[in-house]
Amino acid sequence: MESDFLARKQAQTEQEIHPLLRRRWSPRAFASRPVDRATLRRLFEAARWAPSSRNEQPWRFVLATQDAAEAFARLLDCLVEGNRRWAHRAPVLLLGCAKTVFTHNGRPNRHAWYDLGQAMAHLTVQATAEELYVHQMAGFSPEKAREAARVPEGYEPVVMAAIGYLGRPEELPERLREQELAPRSRIPLAEMVYFGQWGRPLPPP
Ligand SMILES: Cc1cc2nc3c(=O)[nH]c(=O)nc-3n(C[C@H](O)[C@H](O)[C@H](O)COP(=O)(O)O)c2cc1C
Repeated sequence: MESDFLARKQAQTEQEIHPLLRRRWSPRAFASRPVDRATLRRLFEAARWAPSSRNEQPWRFVLATQDAAEAFARLLDCLVEGNRRWAHRAPVLLLGCAKTVFTHNGRPNRHAWYDLGQAMAHLTVQATAEELYVHQMAGFSPEKAREAARVPEGYEPVVMAAIGYLGRPEELPERLREQELAPRSRIPLAEMVYFGQWGRPLPPP
């Protein structure tokens, strides 16, 4: 059953892609197994080597693990109820922030959010290689997160994420279980990428 389930959650791709990317998805059921500190460090090392506009590296992260109960509870409390219902079981919670101005001239860095997203993508791919899963979340209060994690001025709380090893869908309440088992979908490649100008299809291979 379990391998059937994982096979069904793999991306049903139009083209062959790297197995790490096929395997990644955003679960709600996490196992209670903790993530050791060395592994966590490797995730952030991967994020660290993401490219960024002017090499500004505008991403900053605040991490809380279940064993640091108070810090974990503070981050958990920033999530909307719908996310808290499943994320409370993840061994790791993460807050991703963007530095909103360039260090060298203080001007707005309009790519800071883009760069944070790319650092999260690096982290997520590394996590997948470590048999971990990352479920990112926009459903949280940035105001609460600023206070809970003491995010200073000049940095914006942008995203939260739950990280951990995969749990069993049966452990989720019914509605969440349905979402967990649901097939994954994407718009077709033909609606997503054009050749030369908008609306013109890619030439055939
Ligand atoms: C920036 C961002 C915000 C998201 N916010 C939430 C969220 O608040 N709650 C949630 O359950 N999933 C959230 N997701 C997960 C998406 O719903 C999920 O990535 C999408 O449905 C595709 O599914 P997959 O990641 O399993 O391929 C978010 C993902 C991203 C990248």
